[in-house]
Amino acid sequence: IDIGVLSGGRSGEHEVSRNSARSIIAHLDPVRYTVTDVVIGRDGGWSVDGVPATFGQALGVLAAQTVVLPALHGPYGEDGTVQAMLEHLGVTYVGNGVLASAAGMDKEFTKKLLAADGLRVAPGVVLRRGSVLEEFRLPVFVKPARAGSSLGVSRVTRAEDLVTAIDLAFASDDKVLVEPEISGREIDVAVLEFPDGRIEAGPPLEIRVTGDGFFDYSAKYAAGATFDIPARLDAATTALLQDQAIRAFRALDCRGLLRVDFFLPPTGEPVVNEVNTFPGFTAASQFPQIWATAGIPFPNLLDILIATALG
Ligand code: DAL
Ligand code: MG
Repeated sequence: IDIGVLSGGRSGEHEVSRNSARSIIAHLDPVRYTVTDVVIGRDGGWSVDGVPATFGQALGVLAAQTVVLPALHGPYGEDGTVQAMLEHLGVTYVGNGVLASAAGMDKEFTKKLLAADGLRVAPGVVLRRGSVLEEFRLPVFVKPARAGSSLGVSRVTRAEDLVTAIDLAFASDDKVLVEPEISGREIDVAVLEFPDGRIEAGPPLEIRVTGDGFFDYSAKYAAGATFDIPARLDAATTALLQDQAIRAFRALDCRGLLRVDFFLPPTGEPVVNEVNTFPGFTAASQFPQIWATAGIPFPNLLDILIATALG
């Protein structure tokens, strides 16, 4: 099977995507797959197996693959733009399509779609450039509406820090969300679609951030957190989270995979914080670790994703 692994990209998660791609390539069965490593530079330039390529040449290489695995995170990759390009090429690709990718990248629309299906989501206010600021009860989280790995995200505890946090978020997006802090445990649930159409949720994972602060970029990638897989939860809560994660997968019209990130307050329903239509696949990332714990090691997980894409 000729597989093009597409990574890098113009988003702030370029390096995360390269790390995801490196670990994917390292775990693809070399007997079964012939890999072409297609990279989008931070500047939007392309390369194929390390050799600079024009956009046209790169598209030709992608179109010639049996399947493409877009291992891209963030805008210009995980947001439907690359998926639309692959649709135009008529090449089969792993994971979510245009609509799910676009809806899952945009936290405003993710929440609208999930709420319409009865899932509980974090309340929040959407700001556009020039929006008039209201009073917020602190602490709040300020986030670019379309970003990942917590880039541009701040936790604000003092009123005088709010404007700086909003400016930081606007530096990476024209739309910003301000959300009240939700106190609760942080639980991620991985959803996987199998080639026979079965959709399953893996064992919930609990994130424990070591030290102060939240699960930010450095906690995510510089060993600032530990994961409990499975999370210590009673059977009913586990089943509820898994059921809600699968509902989110369906609500966003997902295909292949989704990671749904929840807050679990001390009482009441779980709250969906956000979703990731191509979650991190680095060695430190949740999605492959969850499935390894569920008895599906990384190479088999890739086989399933690819087989599902190939239908
Ligand atoms: N956005 C990063 C890659 C994640 O959610 O894992
Ligand atoms: Mg994310």
